[in-house]
Amino acid sequence: MSKSKNALFSQEIGLRLALIFGSYLYNIKQLHFGYWSKDMKLELSNLSKAQAGYCGLLRSVIPVNVKTILDVGCGTGALAQELLAAGYAVDCVTPSDFFTSLIASNTDGKSEIFQTTFEELKTDKKYDMILFSESFQYIDIEKGFKKAMGLLNDNGHILISDYFKKDKKMVSGKSPLSGGHKLVKFNELIKGLPLTEIKRLDITEQTAPNLDLVNDLLNNLALPAIECLLKYVKAKYWYNLACSVSSLIFRKKIDNLQRKYFRDERNAENFKKYKQYLVLLYKLNLS
Ligand SMILES: C[S@@+](CC[C@H](N)C(=O)[O-])C[C@H]1O[C@@H](n2cnc3c(N)ncnc32)[C@H](O)[C@@H]1O
Repeated sequence: MSKSKNALFSQEIGLRLALIFGSYLYNIKQLHFGYWSKDMKLELSNLSKAQAGYCGLLRSVIPVNVKTILDVGCGTGALAQELLAAGYAVDCVTPSDFFTSLIASNTDGKSEIFQTTFEELKTDKKYDMILFSESFQYIDIEKGFKKAMGLLNDNGHILISDYFKKDKKMVSGKSPLSGGHKLVKFNELIKGLPLTEIKRLDITEQTAPNLDLVNDLLNNLALPAIECLLKYVKAKYWYNLACSVSSLIFRKKIDNLQRKYFRDERNAENFKKYKQYLVLLYKLNLS
């Protein structure tokens, strides 16, 4: 498997697990951080409320002249579903074959679903707005903007809601959290493009609590469950053999997973220290 295919695959597994777990327990249908206002208690049962708050925020920044939207990296299609219900015509881009049928059902067959990466998308259609909700970080900045601008109608808009890496000069140490484009590079590149920034909202404070929620679930639910299973497996005579074979094959992967997810460092404090979550609205300048 190529490096980019491998990254997409492991990202999809993470999203699938989050969805299976979240939808079973709390009917959670979306795959983003949610918007946690100060008065909301940080618990899983409030995640769908926080996610509804986030959708409301995105809807509030969509310009009035927008009628057609391309939702890039649409996850489960739940956000597209809300936008359809609000009267927009919405098409979806997903690189994931697993999510395609769920998106079709969530959007009730009303959206065209492009099953491809955004970079490889081929269509003659044009849209009033291209939306990237927590998906822009997976796409090369320059290629992403170039592609998005080519898909826009005159006076079209690009709405990006995602987190970025803060400038290294502003923070000390290495971030234990991965993901996000470098904000300095992003800001620099955008200057050279025929786009006017209409809105820049910093919602780091309201999205960071999600990290504490996930960190708690990983360390107080997933980890004890895995340890319990391992204890059972270790009691079996074939364990030693399986263990030495798997550690040969998977050691590096297991170490990476442990370092990434179970060190208690994927928390709100570190998110606020190393990342900045922005809602950015751009308008295409007419030449
Ligand atoms: C964190 S999820 C966000 C899902 C959804 N937009 C939401 O806000 O709930 C990231 C999404 O980006 C998609 N994605 C990742 N790489 C992509 C690419 N190169 N082109 C298009 N979508 C991509 C994933 O399949 C996934 O649906």
